[in-house]
Amino acid sequence: MMGLLVFDFCKCTAPADFVQILFFVVHSFGEDDMDIQLIQGDITKVSADAIVNAANSSLMGGGGVDGAIHRAGGPEILAECREIISRIGSCNKGQVVPTSAGRLKARYLFHTVGPVWQGGAAGEAELLARCYEGSLCLAMERNLSSITFRAISSGVYGYPKEEAVQVVRSVVDRWHEKTAGLTVIFVNLSRDMHRLYEKMFAGDAGANLSERKI
Ligand code: APR
Repeated sequence: MMGLLVFDFCKCTAPADFVQILFFVVHSFGEDDMDIQLIQGDITKVSADAIVNAANSSLMGGGGVDGAIHRAGGPEILAECREIISRIGSCNKGQVVPTSAGRLKARYLFHTVGPVWQGGAAGEAELLARCYEGSLCLAMERNLSSITFRAISSGVYGYPKEEAVQVVRSVVDRWHEKTAGLTVIFVNLSRDMHRLYEKMFAGDAGANLSERKI
């Protein structure tokens, strides 16, 4: 049985360096399975063993959250990315490249490059799944306890949001047993996207649902 936690972060009143957790909702837990947490908030504020960055093939940072992750993490991340790119040339779509996480509350940053949406017939779903699966695989290889993702490709890369979350769901369905003990945190800044995740995973809750304020 898959475990699921849902967090809503208070974004409006929280100071920049402090994110307040408002609620969490506990769905059924299994001991021999992946635990899933859904968080509404800023991924640069989340603690996890690995944070997955939706990067571009240059790994040189970009706008949006990629830029925010580099700013929050500090310059050593970019220095490591430069060194990696000098060796491999560029990061392919679907590939995952680990670096340290600098000042972020994580041990590693996993940089992955999602597909640009071209209408759905250009292998986008498979490439997107590869970003998640490669990251989960690396987390298991490194014996990590937790990993956090935002919705790769669903921003400037234009992947339709509902379809992007369906890909996430299909990866979870294939991987939840292989990742026993791993906590997988899906973080979304926007309420709408957070709600899509809730909808996508709601079926796992069954009647075993409780809610607490902390
Ligand atoms: N925390 C969590 N989620 C966020 C945050 C945040 N701080 N900021 C944005 N998001 C959400 C967006 O709402 C979107 O749903 O992350 C998702 C992915 O958005 P993008 O950052 O635009 O990622 P992507 O579509 O994969 O585009 C990658 O953008 O930043 C550049 O260098 C990057 O060129 C690459 C491209």
